[in-house]
Amino acid sequence: MWWTKRCAAVACAALALLALTVCATLPTAQPRFVFSGNDLGFIRPCGCSKPVLGGIARRAGMLHLLRQEGPLVPLSTGNLVAESGVQQQVKLEHMLFAMNAMGYKALAPGVGEFGLGLDYLRGIASLADFPFVCLNATQAGEPVFARSVALEGTAWRVTGLVPTDMNCADVVVEDPVAALGAFAAGLDAGTELVVLWNGPEEMVEKLEQALPAARRARTVIAVACVGDAPRPIAGAASMAVAVGSKGRDLLLLQADAVPYWRSIRLEESVVLDAECARILDAYRDVVRGENLVSGNPRSSSAAYSGGASCRECHEDCTTALATSGHMRAMQTLERTRDERDPECVRCHVVGYDDSEGWTLEKPALANVDCEACHGPSEAHAQTQSVTPVSKPAPRSCLRCHDMDNSPNFDFDTYWPKIRHGK
Ligand code: HEC
Ligand code: HEC
Ligand code: HEC
Ligand code: HEC
Repeated sequence: MWWTKRCAAVACAALALLALTVCATLPTAQPRFVFSGNDLGFIRPCGCSKPVLGGIARRAGMLHLLRQEGPLVPLSTGNLVAESGVQQQVKLEHMLFAMNAMGYKALAPGVGEFGLGLDYLRGIASLADFPFVCLNATQAGEPVFARSVALEGTAWRVTGLVPTDMNCADVVVEDPVAALGAFAAGLDAGTELVVLWNGPEEMVEKLEQALPAARRARTVIAVACVGDAPRPIAGAASMAVAVGSKGRDLLLLQADAVPYWRSIRLEESVVLDAECARILDAYRDVVRGENLVSGNPRSSSAAYSGGASCRECHEDCTTALATSGHMRAMQTLERTRDERDPECVRCHVVGYDDSEGWTLEKPALANVDCEACHGPSEAHAQTQSVTPVSKPAPRSCLRCHDMDNSPNFDFDTYWPKIRHGK
């Protein structure tokens, strides 16, 4: 129940100046850990909706601020990416470059990283200035990465654990509870431990029980958690924390006798770090260079005729929509050089997943033009309406106006802004 102690820390913080002096003069000088994890591919904020949270450049900017108060030990619980494919690889590599720049001390590769394949993962481990740690994954009886790493100049060691249901060819995953128990039993009493856990929060209690009783309250267990802001895990016997997700937050933890923690939201006001902004630009260049925007799978569809053809007959609709952001959605991406990124383009053009939809060769289908909602309508246009056109239902908006990109979407407030037709 260490989180109840947080009240002490918060009260302390509330006493502002006085608190600063008190905290600063506490005898313990434990490292200040900063945890991230479960970035799930969010190398940058999407930027689709205010507030714009997170991204590597903003995270690095925040670390600069935090370092003004003293040194930091940034650690990641993994799942920087959640899917496989070339773009995820490019992304992971650039996230590692950014983590080098941010001075990370260890990464526990998770289900997402192992999902890219062990050979690939081993290959890119050399790009990182910090070790990959994993206690319970082996190949032919040998650990696939360092089982743990000592933090220089401190009594602390960092290890990582993946869940047994992880899927990676040739890799055997030992039971994390048993692996941790055996590992902890071999540590000398003076060694302090951080466990980066890439599995479900519900397992924390079992992991704690694997630790010798005397060690429990002194061990930090950081969990790559799906969900909201970072927080201590209620009821935990260890200093267990959930680290947040999608790169929007950081969790600061100083494992003093009275542990101090802070959940840090990476708000728009944080000044972006120039080096990580350049890394992001380099990422965009590779995405462009590899022409990833043309490589998406498409299902066969009817022919599109382009919004210009609709305008001949539907003048009223055209006028009503002329000033809509939908009609400038591609320009929006051009402003940030994201117009070649499939992860952005797919919602900012007509029919990205369709065989007859937008491609680089069909710039007339850029923007969220008429057929992005009404569907491929060339037959209708050519037969002067004999062939009917679909009238989109309100829920069709959610395909693009999803929780990440349009969290405030509500049909009744959005539709009046683009109302047209009868
Ligand atoms: C040659 C003229 C012409 C062109 C080109 C044309 N339409 Fe139509 N459209 C009509 C007429 C006529 C109707 C039926 C009368 C009405 O509702 O305005 C119609 C009806 C519609 C309707 C209502 C359908 C319904 O079932 O009530 C939609 C939606 C529509 N058109 C969309 C489009 C889109 C999208 C395009 C461009 C791909 C397009 N139209 C191109 C003439 C045209
Ligand atoms: C193909 C993806 C897509 C679909 C489907 C879609 N939208 Fe959008 N919408 C966007 C994008 C992208 C933007 C931001 C455009 C910009 O400013 O660059 C946007 C912006 C908007 C805006 C604010 C800007 C404006 O146009 O004035 C409104 C309102 C809106 N959408 C309403 C709707 C409604 C209502 C529906 C469903 C009937 C819908 N959208 C369906 C992608 C979509
Ligand atoms: C799932 C669909 C989807 C994806 C993917 C997507 N967008 Fe958007 N984008 C939208 C929608 C919907 C809006 C309108 C949000 C609103 O106003 O509620 C929008 C709005 C925006 C805006 C704000 C436009 C303005 O001026 O108001 C920017 C900037 C933007 N998107 C950039 C991006 C970038 C960059 C990416 C890729 C990293 C991206 N989008 C990926 C759907 C998407
Ligand atoms: C963001 C999605 C979206 C875009 C873009 C869009 N529409 Fe619509 N359109 C709708 C929806 C939703 C309706 C209302 C359907 C209903 O009333 O059931 C509608 C209705 C219409 C109607 C009237 C249908 C009727 O009989 O009431 C016409 C005609 C039409 N749209 C044509 C166009 C044309 C032409 C364009 C391009 C200039 C366009 N739409 C762009 C979503 C869209």
